Amino acid sequence: MRVLGIETSCDDTATAVVESGRRVLSSVSTNQDEFHAKYGGIVPEVASRQHVALLSAAVEDALARAQTPLESVDAIAVTYGPGLIGSLVVGVASAKALAFATGKPLHAVNHLHGHVFAPFLDREEDPPYPFLALLVSGGHSQLVDVRSADEMTIVGRTHDDAAGEAYDKTARLLGLGFPGGPLLDKLAQQGDPQAYAFPRYRPAPGSFDLSFSGLKTAVRYFLESPEGAEAPPEDVAASFQAAVVDALISRVDAAMQARPYRALVLSGGVAANSALQRAVREWSERNNVPAFIPPPKYCTDNAAMIAAAAYHQRAFTRVDPLTLGADPNLKFELLSP
Ligand code: KG4
Ligand code: ZN
Repeated sequence: MRVLGIETSCDDTATAVVESGRRVLSSVSTNQDEFHAKYGGIVPEVASRQHVALLSAAVEDALARAQTPLESVDAIAVTYGPGLIGSLVVGVASAKALAFATGKPLHAVNHLHGHVFAPFLDREEDPPYPFLALLVSGGHSQLVDVRSADEMTIVGRTHDDAAGEAYDKTARLLGLGFPGGPLLDKLAQQGDPQAYAFPRYRPAPGSFDLSFSGLKTAVRYFLESPEGAEAPPEDVAASFQAAVVDALISRVDAAMQARPYRALVLSGGVAANSALQRAVREWSERNNVPAFIPPPKYCTDNAAMIAAAAYHQRAFTRVDPLTLGADPNLKFELLSP
């Protein structure tokens, strides 16, 4: 079973061919960073225009690399939300056109569910259910209780900024480029994570929620203070990162104590963060719960995870209609329109 995946929810134009929801035959992602860097953030209109310019060639590229002609594909999977509306419609319209032209079934995928399936790609064994997934990206920070491919519930979420957003905004305060997350990660590797004690949000007992806006503001006020003006940027970066990682790990720990899970899954762009990966591995060893961390290319937005989600969810019993529309505010719980 070969699925062609299409993902255009934000600023990555991504296509992939995945066999049996696991074996990645090709995964192509055209990064648009050079077009957005001069604005210091993603410009939605620029992103959708770039998707229009890049997507057809990206589909051909994924099929060619997978040595799979379009006729040999068994299904077409596409992200239909949540995300930027102008970006989503480009992928959805292309997927519908391909499904219409070839008669292949169309499968609409929730972008966030895609991230949950990233650890299934190119691995010998799947994470065992039930598992806890920590989804940390530029748009989302959530703890997800995953009972099966079709039963997922958010058990903790951020009240304000997503972890990646906090990284990007703090990177901007430090005068780093865009996207800030990976640059801050690199800078922090030379710094002292205990140099400054930035605040950690503590949720009410029994809650596994997160919040990063207080931390971001604390870093801002600190940098504006006389002490902050003299502070080595690598120490500020490392101390900020320590606060983010501490918050994430303490919430994972609390959720795991409240309910037993057979595995911990880390996914989303921030899952590529070196300090977070180290902390998750240490936590996993300490608690004897296996951790599944996808390689960076599957942590950030990609189409292979979308093809994988389509394969695993509802085992292909549903086919979505060609009237499918994009839903920028798609709720996490929704599997299909
Ligand atoms: O999942 P993703 O590619 O797109 C969204 O759906 O948001 O995540 C992108 C986010 C950005 O905020 C980026 O700065 C962050 O992930 N990111 C990182 C790292 N690599 C990507 N944050 C911290 N450390 C990294 N190494
Ligand atoms: Zn994402």
